[in-house]
Amino acid sequence: MKPIKAQISGVGKYAPEKVLSNLDLEKMVDTNDEWISSRTGIKRRHIAADNETTSTMAAEAGRKAIENAGLKPEDIEMVIVASLSPDMMFPASACLVQDILKLPKAGTVDVSAACSGFVYAFSMAAGYIAMGLHKNVLVIGSEVMSRFVDWKDRNTCVLFGDGAGAVVLSAVDQNSPSEVIDFILGGDGSGGDQLSLPAGGSKMPATHETVDQGMHYLKMAGNNVFKFAVRTMTDITVEILNRNNLTADKVKLVVPHQANFRINDAVRERLGMTEAQMFNNIFEYGNTSGATIPLGLAEAVEQNLLKRGDYVIFVSFGGGFTWGVSLIKW
Ligand code: ACO
Repeated sequence: MKPIKAQISGVGKYAPEKVLSNLDLEKMVDTNDEWISSRTGIKRRHIAADNETTSTMAAEAGRKAIENAGLKPEDIEMVIVASLSPDMMFPASACLVQDILKLPKAGTVDVSAACSGFVYAFSMAAGYIAMGLHKNVLVIGSEVMSRFVDWKDRNTCVLFGDGAGAVVLSAVDQNSPSEVIDFILGGDGSGGDQLSLPAGGSKMPATHETVDQGMHYLKMAGNNVFKFAVRTMTDITVEILNRNNLTADKVKLVVPHQANFRINDAVRERLGMTEAQMFNNIFEYGNTSGATIPLGLAEAVEQNLLKRGDYVIFVSFGGGFTWGVSLIKW
């Protein structure tokens, strides 16, 4: 059976209204705008309101993506939410999104692959469509990182923010100029302790001690992650280009995970790409983990950066370690 072609038929994004600037952070921890800007590129981040959660933000981005695709709720056959900050252990955030958006025919599942979650979720959606299982799949990355960072730890709290992005992936005709072409996905669990949220699972259930010790907050060995990220994102991008007989100059836009502007700029230089080929919006949102790529893509579309047939790459790395790259024709 020939795989069925898929294209992104709609995009959507959501960012909470409240903004926390670097100057605001100066009043909270021993840091300063100059350090944060020069080391990370971040100027501000958005912070969820008390009544907002990963699923409410995911639903908002998802609703816009469905509208943007010109579809109705009943057209969506599967919802996949990528998140490391779900509303709760279960039910899955995708179930909550299904209920908020009233999607009568949608299956629901969450993906846990930290910052690579969106690329993994996108690959699953492409697989469902290629097999002929579904025609329209809603793929969302959504995070409320602000509830999982220790606001007393300047090493991590300055880096993260809240937000959501979504795409609808739809089956298209074989002669469409748009298609999902290829994926490389990987993981290395030996790096698990470099980026983790230690408590709250079956290994370390919540106790007074785990709370007292701050074990429900994200922990990170920043320097090790930085080097790993630059190397891996470069290598997998080169690999996916090579095996599809493409060179870097043929790529219209890379929409990378946004963990640090310096990471993305180092990757860009190693790939020999121009600044216009690498999308960055970390200055506005910080690292929104699984949401960075669909949020970035929605902004790239708003800015009219893409036309049908352009080669686009999504590339990410994250906790696990996990990594992933996807090559599409827009
Ligand atoms: N403000 C001021 N000073 C700070 C701050 C801060 N917010 N944070 C750290 N410092 C200090 C450190 O204490 C250190 O001081 P010292 O030299 O006196 O010891 C100094 O700044 C330099 O610290 P480094 O860690 O060496 O700084 P570096 O340039 O490596 O930048 C950073 C740190 C931004 C964390 C960088 O390593 C990075 O971006 N790493 C990757 C992070 C990442 O990608 N995380 C992925 C998360 S994805 C996911 O799956 C959740």
